[in-house]
Amino acid sequence: MSDTLLITGCKQLVTLRGPVPRRGRALRELGMIEDGALLVRDGRILAVGTRKAIERRKDARRARKLDLGGRVVLPGFVDSHTHLVFAGNRAEEYERRISGATYERIARAGGGILSTVRKLRAADANALAARASDWLSIFSAHGTTTVEAKSGYGLDAASELKILRVMNALRRHVRLDIVPTFMGAHVVPPEFKKRPDAYVDLLVHRLIPQVAREGLAEFCDVFCDRGAFTVEQARRILTAGRACGLAPRIHAEQLARTGAARLAVELHAASADHLEKVNAADIRALAASDVTCTLLPGCCFHLGLAHYAPARKLIDAGAIVALATDFNPGTSPTLNMQMVLSLACTQMRMTPAESITAATINAAYSLRRADRIGSLEVGKFADLAVFDVSDYREIPYYFGINHCQYTFKRGRAAHRRNALALRH
Ligand code: NIG
Ligand code: FE
Repeated sequence: MSDTLLITGCKQLVTLRGPVPRRGRALRELGMIEDGALLVRDGRILAVGTRKAIERRKDARRARKLDLGGRVVLPGFVDSHTHLVFAGNRAEEYERRISGATYERIARAGGGILSTVRKLRAADANALAARASDWLSIFSAHGTTTVEAKSGYGLDAASELKILRVMNALRRHVRLDIVPTFMGAHVVPPEFKKRPDAYVDLLVHRLIPQVAREGLAEFCDVFCDRGAFTVEQARRILTAGRACGLAPRIHAEQLARTGAARLAVELHAASADHLEKVNAADIRALAASDVTCTLLPGCCFHLGLAHYAPARKLIDAGAIVALATDFNPGTSPTLNMQMVLSLACTQMRMTPAESITAATINAAYSLRRADRIGSLEVGKFADLAVFDVSDYREIPYYFGINHCQYTFKRGRAAHRRNALALRH
């Protein structure tokens, strides 16, 4: 039997071929092929085009065949912002917030992130790995093929390293790609409450060099916001990370405008995330930069906030816009990128096409992987998600529904809802 796979039956094959990253009008260019087909070998795309053109090839005739039965095919979602490894949940805080408490008030009283930190420190690494692995199966069942994952619920050397080691061990055992980010600078841990700069020293002089030396992360992130780290502290941390080879990402302008987005531009960060509170000058600076603006509408939805990030203004100004779930137990307990597309469309006025581009090729760009993932082009990984709809716009339109039938990671099934006929 040939090791080549011919995939047909793609009513709409959304390739996302074209410029990388996408800015402005180019976010609407999906590179769609009607009645498309793919030829896959050794996990990579060998050919992509119309069914007619692909079936004519000699290597296609000898290939194993999979007919998707007229479904919509996208590059697998690239979820470029998650806090994958955590313990417990915060459903009790959720209920308190609904009754009037705010996210920041709960945090100041020692709840919020610190309540998850207490649970994570007490948790055993194997239990954390088993839970994260279960979540990853659900990511994959919703069409996601690459997941960025941040540490940040440990906040001491042993616990942060425990999280990063869990992620790195998972990388060897699960089919999805995990991209690890060190985020020891989530909030100041209670032991350093009175001397936050001493914690920054610990990160800069000890933890960041160790994480880099052991190859445990690719990126370094800081929650630079009211109640977390200042712009000055974030600059020190991210500069130290960059010097060790960890590219910067920043949680910026979520709760208050602090100047974090400008810091992202100054440091040539891979991504500035959240951005609900940016002003007009920030938008201009971001649009003129190579920083990806990663928007996380799941947070506003879950926290019940009306003020979403200004996606329309960012796109129209020419910024590189991406979308991610921010999967975490405090502000965005969802791993469903389809739901994120729905929120982006209805709450931030992104078009369905823009939201798909933001969730695939632009997110891949922010993870420095646009040469391998994020679009369906020759030579790239055969990472794809198959949706049981007849038009791509139905994915965000029928909101809160999982339309994903089939997920492929490097040409192999990572999720299959209904058995599809594999013909030989
Ligand atoms: O991206 N903003 C900081 N970190 C997370 C929230 C984490 C939590 O509340 O547990 C976020 O929203
Ligand atoms: Fe986050």
